[in-house]
Parts: sequence; structure tokens; C-alpha cells
Amino acid sequence: MASASLSTPLCDLLGVRYPVIQAPMAGGWTTPELVSAVVNAGGFGCLAGSGVPPDRLREEIRAVKERTDRPFGVNFLLAPPGPGSQDVAAVQRFLDRFRERFGLPRGETDLRISPPPLEEQLEVLFEERVPVLSLALGDPGELVQRAHDEDMLVVSMVATVEDAVRDAQGGVDAVVAQGAEAGGHRSTVELGPDGAAPLVGTLALIPQVVDAVGVPVVAAGGISDGRGLVAALALGAAGIQMGTRFLLARESGAHPAYRRRLLEATEVDTVVTRVFTGRPARGLRNRFVEDYLDAGSEPLAWPLQRAAAGDIYAAAQAANDGDHSPLLAGQGLRMLREEGRGAAEIVDQVVAEAEAVLTRLGVESSGAPSA
Ligand SMILES: Cc1cc2nc3c(=O)[nH]c(=O)nc-3n(C[C@H](O)[C@H](O)[C@H](O)COP(=O)(O)O)c2cc1C
Repeated sequence: MASASLSTPLCDLLGVRYPVIQAPMAGGWTTPELVSAVVNAGGFGCLAGSGVPPDRLREEIRAVKERTDRPFGVNFLLAPPGPGSQDVAAVQRFLDRFRERFGLPRGETDLRISPPPLEEQLEVLFEERVPVLSLALGDPGELVQRAHDEDMLVVSMVATVEDAVRDAQGGVDAVVAQGAEAGGHRSTVELGPDGAAPLVGTLALIPQVVDAVGVPVVAAGGISDGRGLVAALALGAAGIQMGTRFLLARESGAHPAYRRRLLEATEVDTVVTRVFTGRPARGLRNRFVEDYLDAGSEPLAWPLQRAAAGDIYAAAQAANDGDHSPLLAGQGLRMLREEGRGAAEIVDQVVAEAEAVLTRLGVESSGAPSA
């Protein structure tokens, strides 16, 4: 049973026991097995809907519902195309050096990218009565009202106070404040002229977002254990969203080379770069990143870069090669000790550690300091 100190307004809002969210992670990592294990353990789990065709999304949602009747969410990335290079031919000729290793043909210069089928995907969510819509990398805008009309809650991820205020004023039910330590894409729409995203650390960002909005704030970025959960609550957050830690859960879809690299990496081994997809994202510095950065070659604009390099990423993953596909990860890497632990054990462990920290700090279950 969680101490009262761990029961926050986020738990009431989402109808969960613990204020621990498993981050949606596009790429096939957040499987229905992972999401359902987290929610059955008392946390909140989220499928990644980005890039998932509507029919498959429906199957994944149903697979979660077969395993649990507790609430869960589905996430989409809203970033519009650009900014950045459109010179596909130049980038493909650069990427050809990676293709040789896998015996792949020269890269296509005629990349046809259809816009994401967001309308069809949303229709699936509405029909399947998914309880929570999770959004990132964009302004939720009119999606908030549409989701509310379907009795869904909306959670949006932001990386600046300005975006948090925009989303809170727009009616979202909670915001995830994503610090610079976070693995994955920086959750901003606007990028600087050089394509860079704001990098405000979790410790600085959380209290400033908390002070600016009236909805529950969830802390994300570099949080990997119960100490991080208590720290987030101390900063005024109502919970945490962890991505990297859950990649190592037994139920995650992360491939063996990815898992091994995560366990070998340290806090200095990640970089925020546009080379993976065209938008700034934090991931492990592997050979692909190093070669790209050494060459100083300009990646394509989002989402062209992901599409251009997609054959290389797929071949690398199929070959269990950790060097030539994005291994997105946050900075809390030395805290990842386990391999093969179930997601429920991770939730239990984070909660137990947080309770131990509260006891050490002399915080009783009422939340009041002990005498
Ligand atoms: C592999 C990976 C993929 C991610 N994909 C998504 C995504 O599809 N949607 C999203 O909202 N956030 C995504 N994120 C970011 C997470 O929501 C969250 O901000 C981040 O994982 C928190 O930092 P941490 O990884 O240090 O726990 C991803 C993170 C990782 C590590």
C-alpha cells in the first residue's frame, strides 16, 4: 500500500495508485504487454501511436484491454514537417556509407512521405474508448476539446514554461514537463534558427512550470528510481514519467543490442542531435551518431531524415546491431542496473525506494515531517 505522501492529484485524475507513468516510446518499444504490466502494477502506461497504422493501433489497444481493465493512454507526436534541409540526394549519398555494411542498395532520392493518419488514428481511440490522449511535440489545439467530448483526458508534454501555459490555457488535464535530461525528442514545436531546441534541466524546469499552471505537472527526464520520484514531488510535481528505465523491462520491445548498450552506458554517453529523425532527440552516441557528427553533415528536415535512413535502421535492428539505428535514451543511465526485470517489479521498486527516502527524510505518511 502506498503511503499517503505518494498519493497525489495525478493519481486521482488518472485513477491510479502510484504517480508513476511509463512514457510512450515510438519505435515498437512500448508493447501492449509493457503497458498492461505497468497499469496492473498500479502505475499508468501509455502506448506510442506515432507511426502506427490505424488497424495495428486498434490491435495494440485491444491487446492492452485484454490484459487489464484499468486506464491507459495512447500518444501522438504532433510536430509539423521541417525546418531544415530538403536536399535528399545529398543526404542519401552520405548515408550510403552505412548501407554498404548491410548490403543495402543506394538510398532512394524520391522519398514520398504521406502525412500521419491522425484523423483515422483518433477515430480508433474514440471507438475503443481509450481513457487518455497523450500528446507531444506540438500544440494540442482543438484536439483537447475533441478528446474531452469523447470523455477522454488529455496530457501534453512540454519543455518550456511558455508551452506549459499555452497547453494549460488550452484545457489539457495535466502537463508532462520534460527536462533536458530526457531520452527521445525534445518536446517543443519551435526550434531555433540552427534547428536547436531549448534544453532546460528537470530540476530547474519543474518548479517553474508548477508555479505557472494550475493543472498537475508530471516530471520527466533522467528520473530512474525512487529518489527521483521524491525529488519530483518535492519540486511540486504530482508524479513522474519514466522512459529509459522501462526500456529494460522484460516486456519492452527493445532489442538485445539496445538493452546491452543501455546497461553499458554512463551519464556522459548521450547527445541531443537531429541526425536520427531531423528533430532534436537525445540518444546514445553510437557509431552512426559519431560518424555523422565527425563529418559535420547536415541531416534532412523532420520527418524526411527518419524516412531517408529507415532502411539502415531496420537492417541494423534485424542484425541486432547497436551501432546504426537510433538508441534513444535519457541521462539517468548508471541507475539502470537490472536486466530482464518485469515492469511491475520496476514500479514496485520505485515506489518502495520512494517510501524509504520519505522515511529517511522524516516525512510521515500524512506528508507531515515527523517529530
Ligand atoms: C526510446 C524513447 C522513445 C520515446 N518516444 C516518445 C514518444 O513516442 N512520445 C512521447 O511523448 N515521448 C517519447 N519519449 C520521451 C518520453 O516521453 C520522456 O520524455 C522521456 O523518456 C523521459 O526521460 P527518461 O528517458 O530519462 O526517463 C521517448 C523516449 C525514449 C527514451
